[in-house]
Amino acid sequence: MKKILVTGGCGYIGSHTIVDLIQHGFEVISADDNSRSKPNILDGVEKITGVKVKNYTVDLCIFDDTHAIFVENPDIDGIIHFAAYKSVGESVEKPLMYFENNMNSLINILRCAAEFKTAHFVFSSSCTVYGNPSESPVTENTPIQQAESPYGYTKQMGEQIVQQTVNSNGIQSILLRYFNPVGAHPSIQIGEIPLGRPANLVPAITQTAIGKLPQMNVYGNDYPTKDGSCVRDYIHVSDIAHAHTLALNYLIAGKNTGNCEIFNLGTGKGYTVLEVIRTFEKISSHPLNYTISARRPGDITAIFANNEKAKSLLGWQPKYNIEDMMQTAWNWERKLQSEEIIFKTQDPSLN
Ligand code: WQD
Repeated sequence: MKKILVTGGCGYIGSHTIVDLIQHGFEVISADDNSRSKPNILDGVEKITGVKVKNYTVDLCIFDDTHAIFVENPDIDGIIHFAAYKSVGESVEKPLMYFENNMNSLINILRCAAEFKTAHFVFSSSCTVYGNPSESPVTENTPIQQAESPYGYTKQMGEQIVQQTVNSNGIQSILLRYFNPVGAHPSIQIGEIPLGRPANLVPAITQTAIGKLPQMNVYGNDYPTKDGSCVRDYIHVSDIAHAHTLALNYLIAGKNTGNCEIFNLGTGKGYTVLEVIRTFEKISSHPLNYTISARRPGDITAIFANNEKAKSLLGWQPKYNIEDMMQTAWNWERKLQSEEIIFKTQDPSLN
């Protein structure tokens, strides 16, 4: 059984990927300092898979602590590197925090991968690297544009660091460019746990619908799109997760043609913000309280993926449609609320 190190394994995409890896025969360990995640998300992974995954609560910016994981696990056959800060807005306010965290953790992981001759490396990248493309769908050859935020720069620089490093030490690697990951595992044992007020669209929708937020904003309806709101390629997090398993199998089978291949992970279909809201209202029978507000700085008009390369080379086929994405996100939000209610009733001090 091949052992895979998943950094950021307690995070949203990381935890869903661990489930998929286990279900496809991999042994998995996690490294996550839980600064932006909750360790009990791995309890949900255990409920789904029956496997208790060990998490190393390590700040990957500390080389010695990162190195110690590899000393204890010299048989790590592959690494999937998710661990990074990912809020576009926060990165604009605190650029140095983003550069320091996202780059130092990546460099330490790659140093260890080189020293321990880890064979396979998958890097969590983002459609953010395309900036504001002049047209969609975008392919993996669409020119990289000026990043719209320090977060976007960390993904662009991260890709370059991986590409340059693996060319020098022969690690076989893949860059996966996610479009907009949304939804929750169908079992609703795991899902997205935004910290504070959600920046992303779908948790903002579900938190407004359940009453955590009084109202949500639609950031602009004056874009040159069918209804004036921005277009994105929303992709279910479980489809994203399975692509990582397929990417590892592709590398293990030696099918990659270069040291570092790139794949877009999107459905290939774009939806406007208002279409997503309509879809949510339809599946939940819940009219949403939103208001049209000013555009959000840094937002691009439209982007969606050409995903033919991942489909043909990885054998990847997204399973979930936009209704499934909204339904699982809504089911998860209601689960979170019920659990919070249970915690409150169990702990009188919280009442
Ligand atoms: C989507 C649309 C907003 C919130 C994200 C991640 C980025 C990358 C791509 C993986 C935009 C609008 C949002 C709200 C709104 N993913 N919106 N009201 O900006 O496309 O980028 O996915 O790496 O890391 O940040 O996603 O969900 O923030 O916004 O109208 O309350 O929804 O204006 O048009 P974005 P998002």
